[in-house]
Amino acid sequence: MTQRVLTGITTTGTPHLGNYVGAIRPSIAASREPGAESFFFMADYHALIKCDEPERIERSRLEIAASWLAAGLDPGRVTFYRQSDLPEIPELTWLLTCVTAKGLMNRAHAYKAATDANVTAGNDPDAGVTMGLFSYPVLMAADILMFNAHRVPVGRDQVQHIEMARDIAQRFNHLFGQGRELFVLPEADIDEQMATLPGLDGRKMSKSYDNTIPLFEGGARGLREALAKVVTDSRLPGEPKDADQSHLVTIYEAFADAAERAAFRRDLQGGLGWGDAKQRVAQLIEHEIGPMRERYAELMAHPERVEQILLDGAAKARRLATPFLAELRQAAGLRPMVARTAPAAGEPQGQRALGKPVFKQYREADGRFYFKLVAADGRLLLQSHGFEAGREAGRWVARLKHEGAAALDAAPVEFGVDVAAGDIAAALAELA
Ligand code: TRP
Repeated sequence: MTQRVLTGITTTGTPHLGNYVGAIRPSIAASREPGAESFFFMADYHALIKCDEPERIERSRLEIAASWLAAGLDPGRVTFYRQSDLPEIPELTWLLTCVTAKGLMNRAHAYKAATDANVTAGNDPDAGVTMGLFSYPVLMAADILMFNAHRVPVGRDQVQHIEMARDIAQRFNHLFGQGRELFVLPEADIDEQMATLPGLDGRKMSKSYDNTIPLFEGGARGLREALAKVVTDSRLPGEPKDADQSHLVTIYEAFADAAERAAFRRDLQGGLGWGDAKQRVAQLIEHEIGPMRERYAELMAHPERVEQILLDGAAKARRLATPFLAELRQAAGLRPMVARTAPAAGEPQGQRALGKPVFKQYREADGRFYFKLVAADGRLLLQSHGFEAGREAGRWVARLKHEGAAALDAAPVEFGVDVAAGDIAAALAELA
């Protein structure tokens, strides 16, 4: 069965080279592997928790979406969308909020860090803490559980959030699943080798250290200028350099193949000057991202194209989210009101104005496709097994509608439910 992989990107910044090497490039590579069904989205509701500058949110969403697309993300192959285009996300967040223990949220690292800092400063523990920050992990759980993701590639700092999503999912399954696993329990996927690119000063490249190298902004020239600022030791051209001590080498190696790596190390050992070495790094990186930058510029000049891609992605995501949320609402008791009482004595059966029996087709958390036949009064008449393909389930429904109960004899396994065969036949006859 395919593995669903899902990642969110908080839209508060502009992608830099570290984001590219650490997240964008490996995620796109993973999305091309067979057997993976990938979901990537702009976590713009999460961005609102951290940022109250509307222009920055707006710009960041565009820059991040354009960067991922320019780097080769194929929206035909993956589901690429904006969190805030899915009304199902806040709705699910509420369903989950109602089963989430407050004590669990009290233990979230980000919230604890904020309250600890307040206490240290002699302030009220919750000074400046919003409900958004406090409930952050529930929103994130909704992102993940909405699509029943199996694996969630994240950095170490996010692992606790995935564990919380599991806890919340388990609780919901237990309360409302009636023995069924409504939600898949997600796993954090931490790539131990996942490159963290050093920044200009050798610490991890991060906006908070102000040591970043831009990915696309500033052009080839901006890239060269940033690389010129990478800190090196003071050895002169002609002196042998120690490649293991140089984070310029680490940056180079994130883009080089084995032969290029060996040659670069050999040349540094042989006295290559730092200035020339930086030229080589710039050339190598430019070779990979130069063509992407052109696509990026094109997309940035046409935000309406990016908008359309994201809207299409949202529609694709909602084809899964809308029916699944309906099922969850049903499970929690938010159900349509239908008559359930037995007909009064003497009332003719056929005259209860309840409408017709219906076939329902749906996809379960196990990824399989099902159908069932439900009588007008809500009784389950037929329940299929899981089909690999939605089409197969659809074919059976069509056949049962056309051929009636006779088609049941040809069923591969019994569409078992313990009701009288006559009731099933009558319901099918009504639909024929
Ligand atoms: N909180 C994540 C971060 O800051 C972003 C995010 C939001 C996310 N929702 C998610 C990541 C769901 C993975 C899955 O990095």
